[in-house]
Amino acid sequence: MLSHLTLSNFRNINQVSLSPSVGINLFIGENGSGKTSILEAIHLLAMGRSFRSRNLKNIIQFEHAQFTVFARSSEMTPVGLLFDTNTGLQIRLNNAPLKKLSDLAVNTPLQYISANCHQFFELGPKFRRRMIDWGVFHVEHKFNYHWQTYKKALIQKNAALKNKKSKAEIELWDQYLVKHGDQITDLRTTYLNRLIDIFKPIFSKICPTFDQCEFTIRYSKGWNKDKSLPETLAENYERDRILGYSRAGPHSADWMVRINNDSPEEMLSRGQQKLFYLSLCLSQITLLMEIKGVKNTILLLDDLSSELDWQHQKTVMETLRSLPVQTFITSTNTELARLISNEKEKVFHVKHGEIREDNETVNTSI
Ligand SMILES: Nc1ncnc2c1ncn2[C@@H]1O[C@H](COP(=O)(O)OP(=O)(O)OP(=O)(O)O)[C@@H](O)[C@H]1O
Ligand SMILES: [Mg+2]
Repeated sequence: MLSHLTLSNFRNINQVSLSPSVGINLFIGENGSGKTSILEAIHLLAMGRSFRSRNLKNIIQFEHAQFTVFARSSEMTPVGLLFDTNTGLQIRLNNAPLKKLSDLAVNTPLQYISANCHQFFELGPKFRRRMIDWGVFHVEHKFNYHWQTYKKALIQKNAALKNKKSKAEIELWDQYLVKHGDQITDLRTTYLNRLIDIFKPIFSKICPTFDQCEFTIRYSKGWNKDKSLPETLAENYERDRILGYSRAGPHSADWMVRINNDSPEEMLSRGQQKLFYLSLCLSQITLLMEIKGVKNTILLLDDLSSELDWQHQKTVMETLRSLPVQTFITSTNTELARLISNEKEKVFHVKHGEIREDNETVNTSI
């Protein structure tokens, strides 16, 4: 959980310092005021990357040479990041320097829900794989080892295929792909089977229209389901040689939740698609809490109000309130502030890159 956050020269935010609450934090402001930038800064700290710029240079406020983000968690672990156009990146975790941004990702599990998350169905398997791998990674720490080893073997095999090496040199990598590939598949399917049980009640509560439906997981392993991975790799040898890369395996896997055995994208409206994606994220957080007892997850929810009517915005807020997750929500809808009530929640008003905490928040039970 973040207990303190300071940003300087971060996009349109010149200098801001705030103390978020442990529950819901609502950032309200007009378009271009700096709301998403705050989520971006938290994402950068927790995940080691921005969700909208590959190049950190683009984050630096125009006409400045560096930006900084600093946070303190409730466990009092300070984490700070400075990016300077001349000297590059410096990261400090618990007062010690950190080499790689990616090392930051292990410390705080974070879920980011973008403003256009209803595009989840169109974004393709890569995005969906990344989504469940986040959960498997946090629930099963050995997943990272299997995935990293698998990825290295795949890179080597693809290089051998591309450079037209001998059959023996190409097939040398298959033993690693099979050993770790089967583990990855097992861990993912176990995870998804647990996730679906948690998803059902959450989605039915947020979107009651579907409470009588049956929800199932469809997982495509990334190769023919009737064949083993060694069989498939052997059969695909000629094709892979022509393609110059190895296609079959868990790196080509995909998954989806089916509703009454139908594709959700065909039956859900845009708003329902957003609620569906949101429910999946909340299920992942709940699963992490149930299995690992993790209670310090951070949820970033950009633009809650888009696509959702007032009743659904309220239901989402109530659901979030029932979870032990620190949430950062943005919206242009000032009415949402009326839903913020207890001492575990805060409203911040964002205007031209400046942030003012609303101390006048009252419970007006709507
Ligand atoms: N490097 C930068 N330096 C200064 N300003 C920037 C930089 N990059 C982006 N901006 C500006 O920062 C402002 C804040 O952007 P941000 O996406 O945070 O707004 P927002 O409040 O989320 O708006 P919306 O409601 O439209 O999503 C925008 O006006 C944007 O043009
Ligand atoms: Mg925004």
